[in-house]
Amino acid sequence: MIESYETYKEIVNEHILDYIPSIDAKSNVLYESMKYSLSSGGKRLRSVLLLSACEFAGGKYQDALPYACAMEYIHTYSLIHDDLPAMDNDDLRRGVPTNHKVYGDGMAVLAGDGLLNTAYEIMNKDLFLHFDNIKELKKRINAAHCICKGAGVTGMIAGQASDIENERKQCSNEMLDYIHLNKTGALIVAAVRAGLYLGGASDEMMSDMTSYAENLGLAFQIADDILDVKGTEEEMGKRAGADKEHEKVTYVSVNGLEASETRLDELTKASIKAVEKYYDNAEFFYKLVLKLQNRNH
Ligand code: IPE
Ligand code: IPE
Ligand code: MG
Ligand code: MG
Ligand code: MG
Repeated sequence: MIESYETYKEIVNEHILDYIPSIDAKSNVLYESMKYSLSSGGKRLRSVLLLSACEFAGGKYQDALPYACAMEYIHTYSLIHDDLPAMDNDDLRRGVPTNHKVYGDGMAVLAGDGLLNTAYEIMNKDLFLHFDNIKELKKRINAAHCICKGAGVTGMIAGQASDIENERKQCSNEMLDYIHLNKTGALIVAAVRAGLYLGGASDEMMSDMTSYAENLGLAFQIADDILDVKGTEEEMGKRAGADKEHEKVTYVSVNGLEASETRLDELTKASIKAVEKYYDNAEFFYKLVLKLQNRNH
């Protein structure tokens, strides 16, 4: 297994544009806008999780690359749409103007749609390439299904819908967990589980790592909420203080900063606990969750 987050990230960055369909001159702007958001940086967390989970389970990262990139296409689409005036109305993302600020709202909607559809094309193509080997095909069908479900109306989209519905409202902690587990946790869990399927993980590893990812997913969004209050625009590459301005329900708005930091710490520990029986073999995952707890972007 590759030891470093940075190495996985470089692999993703090297291949991220490989799957953009060849340019049709008539819709050049569409491809430009898709590429603009795909290549403007980002942590590549979900794709790195997918590749590393595949290797943790005993697979080869090369087999997981199409799914890792598909995951990153879906995540990028979710950000383009999240930033639109009709949603969070943000002007800055990954240190550059948001997609709609450069290409206009209509093209940004289509760039998001284009990235989502391309993700499904990438996975579908890979399924066909393994049509003759039922064992390999099964792993890929499971991985693709996890990703579609995580991104779908019982996953990320459900969370985003509830996020919008709860703006400017009093919100229970139960609802808050639901929003965060879905809008952010669902793709993170899907990334880990898809990687595990591709690597041929046992049921036990699948269950332990799912618990790792659920805790990590919630922790990740709580850290994002905390950063919106404590972080700087320069470090985050996106605007600080936007949640308060839009009266979003966040961990900080419902529970305050201190309680949010305590919860982040508890979830980080729970994440580590979920995989501690793998001792040093899970070191990559211990380090990752600690790094994310202390991130500044
Ligand atoms: C941002 O995700 C949206 C959230 C779910 C909080 P990331 O913080 O992973 O964004 P990038 O990919 O690094 O830009
Ligand atoms: C975004 O949550 C979650 C998704 C895009 C699915 P936020 O709205 O908090 O993310 P940022 O702060 O804009 O990155
Ligand atoms: Mg949002
Ligand atoms: Mg947002
Ligand atoms: Mg946020």
